[in-house]
Order: sequence, then structure tokens, then C-alpha cells
Amino acid sequence: MCGIVGYIGTKEALPVLIKGLKRLEYRGYDSAGVAVIDQGKIQRRRAVGKIDQLTDRLKTEQWGGAIGIAHTRWATHGGVTEENAHPHTDCSGEIMVAHNGIIENYRELRDKFLGGHTLQSKTDTEILAHLIEVHYQGDLRLAVEQALRHVRGTYGLVILHKKEPRKLIAARLGSPLVVGIGDKEYYIASDTSPMLAYTSQVIFLDDGEIAEVTDHGLQIYDLHDQQITKEAEHIDWSERAAEQGGYQHFMLKEIIDQPVVIKDALRGRLVDSEGTAHLGGLNMTEEQMHSVQRIILIACGTASYAALAGKYAFERLSGIPTEVDMGSEFRYRDPIVDRHTLVFAISQSGETADTLAAAREAKRKGAFVRGIVNVVGSTIARETDGGTYIHAGPELAVASTKAYTNMVAVLLMYALQFGRLKRLTVATGQRLVAALREIPDKMQTALQQGTKARALAEKYRQYKNFFFLGRGINYPVALEGSHKLKEISYIHSEAYAAGEMKHGANALLALDFPVLAMMTKNQLYEKMRSNVEEVRARQSPLILVATEGDTEARELTEDIIYVPATMELLEPLVNTIPLQLFAYHMAVLLGRDVDRPRNLAKSVTVE
Ligand code: F6R
Repeated sequence: MCGIVGYIGTKEALPVLIKGLKRLEYRGYDSAGVAVIDQGKIQRRRAVGKIDQLTDRLKTEQWGGAIGIAHTRWATHGGVTEENAHPHTDCSGEIMVAHNGIIENYRELRDKFLGGHTLQSKTDTEILAHLIEVHYQGDLRLAVEQALRHVRGTYGLVILHKKEPRKLIAARLGSPLVVGIGDKEYYIASDTSPMLAYTSQVIFLDDGEIAEVTDHGLQIYDLHDQQITKEAEHIDWSERAAEQGGYQHFMLKEIIDQPVVIKDALRGRLVDSEGTAHLGGLNMTEEQMHSVQRIILIACGTASYAALAGKYAFERLSGIPTEVDMGSEFRYRDPIVDRHTLVFAISQSGETADTLAAAREAKRKGAFVRGIVNVVGSTIARETDGGTYIHAGPELAVASTKAYTNMVAVLLMYALQFGRLKRLTVATGQRLVAALREIPDKMQTALQQGTKARALAEKYRQYKNFFFLGRGINYPVALEGSHKLKEISYIHSEAYAAGEMKHGANALLALDFPVLAMMTKNQLYEKMRSNVEEVRARQSPLILVATEGDTEARELTEDIIYVPATMELLEPLVNTIPLQLFAYHMAVLLGRDVDRPRNLAKSVTVE
């Protein structure tokens, strides 16, 4: 979704803003723009397409100003054109506004307040610039405050005014904004990545807050002009972690990072002697934990497939009935939750609008609501009454990989913690802990299948459709593998619980419809093998993911990716890796924009 950057300080603003926009590229966008106040004059340039198109336009410019705002736009209202790109301005051209979110009542505002104003774009955002113009009487913050009182919708905003050339205003309702505090300088952005190079001190704005940033400091107000005191937080994500590090794509780097970052998810949380895990952020007494009769895992997309792997673990280890619910469905369904329900909101970004709304709904209804989140300080992390960071580090490719495996790891640890409280023996718990400790090495072994995954991608690149099949714990793996393939290679792909195929989807099996089947050695191996025979009988080309040493698999197909064996519930941590690699190589071979696939955004902050 859109990205916002603002800067005020002593450096030249333009390079800081452009570098910041590049850091936000991963969120997805279709146009970009920047505005700077240089020697009392406002300069603005916008361009459709990539940031490089914008920098081309700026090549001959010599702007020296030390204050400015910038934006990457992901079109919602109005097509992808230069006129619709941000920053937007008012009639005088003195106010500049960059906005993330949607102004729902923009037509009403236009008709009520903006007779006589000349609008240049088809966006909801431009209405805001004019609305601020209407209310401006020499104090930008007050004008923004008054304008926002009329607005329905969501916004993360950064605004400047030529008449107050050393002031930035930022406002938030439903769209994340962070203020970074440097040495005599401030950064404002949709997330921390544009400021990691300069500071680790940040303040996360909450909904309904307006920040006024000048050379004299930072003040935060609510929409009723009351000042708010907030402490800065320290973030320890490094600039280096957000760099591509010589890899061709962020996605590849993030796949390869998995054995390392999973250690960060496990570190300090496993208790070998007691055969359990301890996730302090849960914030529940033992009594409260015992009172939980139902668990609901709320998530979207890849996070929901991690959640499904979590469901299998919770039910098997703790015996607590567990469901997975999509945020977008849960929020409007009048869900049945009560004070015996524990809800986990699972989200890499911590900003997904549907997951957040669902978590709020569950909270309203009295459930325990906890977050399982990657981005530190994100809205879900702050709005839930506890939870756990997955510590995957910055994930910049749109396709989630390392966050998925770290989510699964955290869910497994929670399942173990509840399991030990309910019915698991120390010995079983200790076996699980030991197996979890072996996972980083097993992931490393799975990564060695990269060459094989690439060769298979070469062989299968011309197919237009794919099935991914799995049973039991490999069903969520199949779902995730299929999701990865479709989102980055644009190949149509479906995942099925293999036992379901005979109820309809078998009709599609044919020479032109390859199947990737998860046939690892677990309790459903024989069942899965029968399903694979059914596929072969219908002549679909077949790729198998099988356990190292399973020579019988060779009788079924020559296209096999071998993975190391692990305890069944832990299999998603290992078995998903070759599927990520297969999707990655397929997308590269087909010339796709791997890190920023079309029509998708990393942080989905709108419904
Ligand atoms: C898939 C992907 C999306 C996200 C989904 C939820 O690779 O990236 O399906 O998983 O949009 O995002 P988060 O986890 O940020 O809530």
C-alpha cells in the first residue's frame, strides 16, 4: 500500500526522501512523488511508474531544501496518472499533502466545502488539501485538526505549508505512521524502514493523534487540541537487515535467511528441563490459561496458512478446539466468542486492516486477544493485550517467506506451552523442544534443494495450471506452496487436501495439469501414496516432496525434492522451503517482478 516519508532537519531533504521511498518500495506502488521547500519555494515532481522514473525527472534539479515530503501511491481513487500521484496541493499550491488511506466521504466534503475550488486530480486526497486550505488561518496544525474533524475514513498524513517552512504535520487514523527522532532532525514514515539508517529512537503515532514537528521539537496532540505525552521507543532492526545483501531479490535473501532468523524466534523461549516453551508476552495467569476452552487464530493469506499449521499443533498438543478464521470474514459475521476464547491475531505487518478489525471485534466481545506479529510497534502489536514478536527481521519482498516459518515456530511454542499445561508429558514436551532445536540445521539442508527446485521450474515453466496436494500437516504446506506460486509467477494454482480430490477436482487431472504432492513419511504417508497413485493414473505430470531416504518415491516419478525428516507437527518449517524456492525460480524464469508482484501490496491497510 502507499508509502509516506517526511523529513525536517539539517540535511538536504531530497536524497533522504528518495532513499526513504526506496525503502518503502516493497509495500507496492504504481506512482511516486516528492515535494520540498527550497529557499522559500515549493518544488514538486511526480511520476507514474517506478521511483527511478521520478529520479530521472529530478536529475537536473538542484533543490537544496532541508524539509520535504514524499509518497509512493497504490491507486484506490482515480487511475494511475501523474495528476493523481501525491503530494497533492490546494488552489494556492502552498499546501502539500501525502496520504495513505481512503477518505470515504470525499464527495460530500467536496460538495459541502469546495465550491469554487479547482480540483486537478480524481483522488480523495486532493479534497483534503483543499479542506485544509479552507481552514487555514496561519496555523497549519489547527487547520489540519479542523479539516480532519469533517473526515470519515482512514488516513496516515504528512503535510507541509509554504507559509510555515520549518514545520511538518503528521496525522494518523487507521494508517500507520512513525516519527523517527534523530539529532536535530525528524523523520516521518509509514514504517520504520526509511529511518533505520539514521536513528533507532521512534514514536509510533496512535489513531486520532497529530504530530507537529519543527526545528524546536516534536509535539503530539489529539483532534481536540489537547497535548499528549509519549515516550520514544528503541527499535533494534538494523539497516543491514533491510538490504538486499548481494542477492538478486529480497525474496531469495529472505528464503535463505530462514535458518538464521528462526533461531531468533526460538531464542530464550524453549525450556529444555520442563519440556515446554515460555512466551512471556502471553500475559495470562495459569488460571486464565486453564479457563481457555477455544482458540481462534485470525489471519489473512500466508499468515492464515501458518495459522492452519498452528491449529493442528494446538489441537494435538493441548486438546483445545482451535479454528482458523480469515480476518475479512470474522469481522462481519457476528462471531461467537466469549471470555473462555483465546484469539491470536497473526500478522507479519501487524497492520492488515481485516486482521486488526477482527481482533478489535474479538476484544469487544470479551475474548483474550493476543498478537503474533513481526513488525515491532505495529498497530496489532500495540492494540492486543499481549502476544509475541516473531523476530523475523524486516521482510521486504511482498511474498512472505521467513515471516511464515517464524509464525509457525511461535504457534508451535504456544501449542507446546498450552499442551504442557493440559496433557503433554515432560518427555513428549522434551522431544518437541529437542526437535525444534534441530530445525535450523534441517532448514539449511532443505535449502540445498535450491538447484533441484530451479531445474524443476525449468521443466515445468510452460504449464498454466498446478495442483498442490497434501494431507494432515502437509495440507497447510500445500496451501502455502500454491499461494506462493500464484502470487509471484501468476500461474493459476490450487491447493487441495489430497483426500478431497475425488469429490470433484480429479476431473481436472490430465497431461496438462501438473501436481505437486507432499508425500513425506508421516502417519498419513500410505494414504497420501494412494492419492498420488490416483494422480498418476490420470497422467498428470507429478512432482513429489518426499523424505530423504524414501527410495520408493522414485518408482512414482523422477521429479522429487527430498527434505529431511522431522517430527510431524514441525514439518511445515522444513517442507515449505522447497516450495518457496520452486515458486521463486518459476517467477524468475518467467521474468516476473519477483519482489513486487503486480496488483499486490505488502502491507494491506485497506479493506
Ligand atoms: C503472501 C502474502 C500475503 C500476506 C497477507 C497478510 O505472501 O504476503 O498473503 O500474508 O496479506 O499479511 P500480514 O501477515 O502482514 O497480515
